Amino acid sequence: MKERLAALADRALAAIAGASDAEALDEVEKTVLGRKGELLSLMRGIGELPAAERSAAGQAVNAVRERLDAALAARRAAFQDRHLAAELADTRFDPGEPPPPRARGHLHPLTRVRREVEDIFLGLGFDVVDGPEVETEAFNFDRLNIPAHHPARDTQDTFWLENGQVLRTHTSPVQLRAMLRAGGQPPVRVIAPGRVFRNEQPDATHEHTFHQVEGLMVDEGISLADMKGVLALMLERLLGQSVEVRLRPHYFPFVEPGVELDLRPAGSDGRWLEMLGCGMVHPSVLREGGFDPGRVSGFAFGLGLDRVALARYGIDDLRWMMSGDPRFLQQF
Ligand code: DAH
Repeated sequence: MKERLAALADRALAAIAGASDAEALDEVEKTVLGRKGELLSLMRGIGELPAAERSAAGQAVNAVRERLDAALAARRAAFQDRHLAAELADTRFDPGEPPPPRARGHLHPLTRVRREVEDIFLGLGFDVVDGPEVETEAFNFDRLNIPAHHPARDTQDTFWLENGQVLRTHTSPVQLRAMLRAGGQPPVRVIAPGRVFRNEQPDATHEHTFHQVEGLMVDEGISLADMKGVLALMLERLLGQSVEVRLRPHYFPFVEPGVELDLRPAGSDGRWLEMLGCGMVHPSVLREGGFDPGRVSGFAFGLGLDRVALARYGIDDLRWMMSGDPRFLQQF
């Protein structure tokens, strides 16, 4: 027994020392120490020894097992070190190398178009003003010449709040607020970009939330020609090309006359593109704003910002705008 054990230990140690890789070690472990290994079959022989020798024999087997385990572990560690050293030697590590570029955010297409419109009007001496998105019925409708039972209310499906206020259906109430702030002193030259809300069934061209820029200019002697000139200038700068504009009569309760402005590239005889609603501020709206319609006049307009952004960037569905979907946003 003793001799067989010693022979086994020598053979196994030699095999461990001679193993060329981790797989070879696994093989030695299996044949010597495994469940069907040689050491276990030796141990089974212990039961046949005289009782006095059994305990010493058991201890000897265990001692060999421990030596072999230790030898295996040491050899495995050596293999691992070698592997690591090889990997390190092979890995190019250059502390001076610039880091990979970081993903950066950027502006939403709507924000870009809005800022362009703002820049154009700031350059023309207009102020950029803001107004509440939750409006009173009076500011959103009545004081803009849209009384309760006026059919014009039907064209603006309104979100009503329980307290009787509304989510503004257009940016036009900011006209009134700007006039009131001016305290009857002309001139008033403002634009008011912002979100507006309508109780629409969303589809590719309708959303419950969209964006407008309201514009208002009030002073002595303001005419429709001023309006046409300012708007044509704005659109040329916004679109980056010279355009032809056409005024087409249209009804908006808060202006008189009211028109829709269409445009097409200058010199083309192509299709007219409907761009915005505008007109001369209605005398009763001027009065609501604290101005005397006998002394001053003004023009106003409402531009759909989403429409400009859709056209500018070739976007085919309005619903992308408010989606927050990075797959959409990362394209711009
Ligand atoms: N508020 C109108 C709308 O939402 C747009 C509009 C038309 C605004 C004519 C104006 C205007 O200031 O003069 O449909």
